[in-house]
Amino acid sequence: MPNSSTLSVPACTDTPRHLAIIMDGNGRWATKRFLPRTAGHMRGVQAVRRVVEACGRRGVEYLTLFAFSSENWRRPKEEVSLLMRLFMQTLEKQVGKLEEQGVRLRIVGDLSPFEPRLQALIRAAEERTAHNSTLNLTIAANYGGRWDILQAMRKLLAAQPGLASQPDAIDEAQLAQYLSMAYAPEPDLFIRTGGEQRISNFLIWQLAYTELYFSDDYWPDFGAKNIDAAFEWYRTRERRFGRTSAQVASQT
Ligand code: FPP
Repeated sequence: MPNSSTLSVPACTDTPRHLAIIMDGNGRWATKRFLPRTAGHMRGVQAVRRVVEACGRRGVEYLTLFAFSSENWRRPKEEVSLLMRLFMQTLEKQVGKLEEQGVRLRIVGDLSPFEPRLQALIRAAEERTAHNSTLNLTIAANYGGRWDILQAMRKLLAAQPGLASQPDAIDEAQLAQYLSMAYAPEPDLFIRTGGEQRISNFLIWQLAYTELYFSDDYWPDFGAKNIDAAFEWYRTRERRFGRTSAQVASQT
């Protein structure tokens, strides 16, 4: 894993290199307007477009959005199928634009329960944008942090079965290379919209030293101005990674 915050102190930049977002509040945005919850998800797609563009312009290298958690299957059937249809439509409509903007798209999560057409669209969109590097956009879909750690452990043991009888030989870096976002540095900044202050099983390994920012705004209202406010707050943070303030000051 590049730049593990527990194995070494990562370099810090004014603009987060990696921003991870829980896009919460779509349902409440809609309910407040006497609209069905699904209308909030549809407006949420517009916020995704605004935030991708704002991050690209501000030099963010990695943007990771939590679109559907392992636990979201518990929602009403109609809402789950609307969300699936939205993913498909968005992939079909937006991939050309992402391609033009230099965005590389990856989807992480357990994709096996998704219908074959959605899986094929995901693969095609990933392949079509694979040569891009301006912004690495990751959509976490049917993703859970615990699922990720488990699948990484299973892959590690499958690759090196001998480790099962020598558990002490397993180290952090070995396991981390099998996490689904091993290609990215750990998030510098995490944003959750919608007023809740929880991690909700998102990137639980990678958020070890991430700065956490909670906004009361609902996701459909989120845009460039909110990103600027979050980045301004981020710049005020002293990122110590376990060190003292004096140590941090003497390093700069
Ligand atoms: C949380 O709001 C949002 C979701 C579970 C879905 C997020 C999906 C989108 C923003 C649209 C599609 C995204 C892509 C990338 C195509 P909530 O429904 O939990 O809101 P609530 O807490 O107000 O009920």
